[in-house]
Amino acid sequence: MSTLPTALKNSRCILHIDLDCFYCQVEQVRLGIPFDVPAAVQQWRGLIAVNYAARKAGVERHADIDDAKKICPNIKLLHVATYGPNDTEPRYHPNPDRRTHKVSLEPYRNASREIFKIFHKYCGTIQKIGTDEGFLDVTETVNQRLIERYVPQLLDKLHDEDCGVLIDWHTLGVVVTSPDEDMSESSSEKQWKTTTWRDLQLAIGAELATEIRKEIYDKLQYTCSAGIAHYKTVAKLCSSKNKPNKQTVLREAARQTFMADVPFKKIRNLGGKLGAEVGSDLEISNARELWKYSIKELQDKFGVSTGLYIYNICRGVDDEEVTSMKAPKSLMAAKAFNPAIQNPTQMQPWFSILSVELHTRILRNYEDFGTWPKNITIRYRSFGSYRTKAIGSLPKDDMKNNESLLKKFQQSYNSIPDAYPCLGLDLIASGLSHDESSKSHTLNRFFTTSSTSAHLANSTIIHPPPPVTKKNLFFKKPLPVKPTDAETWVCDNCKQTVSVADIDEHTDYHFALEISQQDSNAPNTSVKRRKSPPTNEDKKKKVNNFFLPRS
Ligand code: TTP
Ligand code: CA
Ligand code: CA
Repeated sequence: MSTLPTALKNSRCILHIDLDCFYCQVEQVRLGIPFDVPAAVQQWRGLIAVNYAARKAGVERHADIDDAKKICPNIKLLHVATYGPNDTEPRYHPNPDRRTHKVSLEPYRNASREIFKIFHKYCGTIQKIGTDEGFLDVTETVNQRLIERYVPQLLDKLHDEDCGVLIDWHTLGVVVTSPDEDMSESSSEKQWKTTTWRDLQLAIGAELATEIRKEIYDKLQYTCSAGIAHYKTVAKLCSSKNKPNKQTVLREAARQTFMADVPFKKIRNLGGKLGAEVGSDLEISNARELWKYSIKELQDKFGVSTGLYIYNICRGVDDEEVTSMKAPKSLMAAKAFNPAIQNPTQMQPWFSILSVELHTRILRNYEDFGTWPKNITIRYRSFGSYRTKAIGSLPKDDMKNNESLLKKFQQSYNSIPDAYPCLGLDLIASGLSHDESSKSHTLNRFFTTSSTSAHLANSTIIHPPPPVTKKNLFFKKPLPVKPTDAETWVCDNCKQTVSVADIDEHTDYHFALEISQQDSNAPNTSVKRRKSPPTNEDKKKKVNNFFLPRS
């Protein structure tokens, strides 16, 4: 791209897209309930998603259903789908009971797949966060459009900061204004700052965001909010700034002002321990209060890379790449029992529910990624300790329906001597990998590798240029934050950043890995104990009550 304006050499265009009240929209679209009718999604007696009409009436997430009805008598409460005894697929049972039914998030996973299929039409570099949001690095598409449309007429400006193109920002969403731009009704001189090449990049990014959001609405009837910026952290802050159904553009001229009042705990990666440390050490609560510290002061206090990271992030700058989606390594169907299951008769219906669920997930995963599990393992819990039993692998021919899986599952569990009382039963598929046949005939449409990452690694992004800008001092690895109300968490085991929604799955991945390593020594027969098992209690603590108890 020799005609790329100099100012865009290291400039990225990032979109963060997040669905509005996601689970609630999925149910409302299914039932044809208009979005202005107050509604919420119910899981047992609690609410897990609340729509905007109900939020306006004062209903909050995690409210008890009786309280919600008191606050908003006309609210529609929509219970999540469940598997009942003998169900071969999740259904919307009228009065599901947690003692006999199991929650299914399958409808939301399916909706999520449709949404991400649309994202993939516009962009190859997508980082999926949970089921309903993602970062899209649209730099390549945007730059291409920009070059085709503008560069031939502006060849003499290629090395300038400004391109001078007039943009009607009002048509592109909510555009954050800079301190010297007054767009209020009373202002006589409404004027945007001169357009820079980087602004133009965001304007085309906003155009793309509009196209993506329109396609999602036209095809699926879901609304979403988007943030458009040069950096991930601010793109995410922008998408949550104006909800629902809006997009927000943050140009460089307005970035610092925008950051000023952001409570710094809302910044990705500062929601956890590090944020708490910074807050108490420096006695501050929002990003602006960090600006008075020099890089050196922050580095002396928090270390070289973390200090520099904090210096940048409180100004809305980061150099985190959008990392493409990876195929999962393990899949799981899990159920916690309270009260405990005491005998095989009580357990009987759960074998079929869990095997139906895992079976569906294995087949879906095969369609999406073309990978097949090497091991199926049972994990069961009685009073604090997890145990496992491998039940071997299942070839594709045995998985046309869930019967073989169910049979093996049942037989294996029934042969365990210490199976009762049982407080939790999980069925785990691990060692998901490509085999010869899957390589040849699957689409692998989600299994993409990043195409834009190479040139980004070289970018130097500190604004304004501070004294220490060596790229090797940049924070390349995710911060070692513990899970809190932040939306990502860094795994102690592999240091990978994991979305909070995926913590369970990620923990299971390591666990499954452990199992498959043990399996290779003693296949199929032995019952293993985990040295220090993460109990469901631990898991709940880990995510700080972010999610309701497991279904
Ligand atoms: P969010 O994106 O956090 O919330 P939301 O989409 O409901 O609302 P918003 O418009 O503010 O983005 O979560 C996406 C879905 O994940 C949500 O609809 C339900 C589910 N979820 C839970 O089940 N428990 C939780 O604690 C959270 C945060 C989300
Ligand atoms: Ca959302
Ligand atoms: Ca979300």
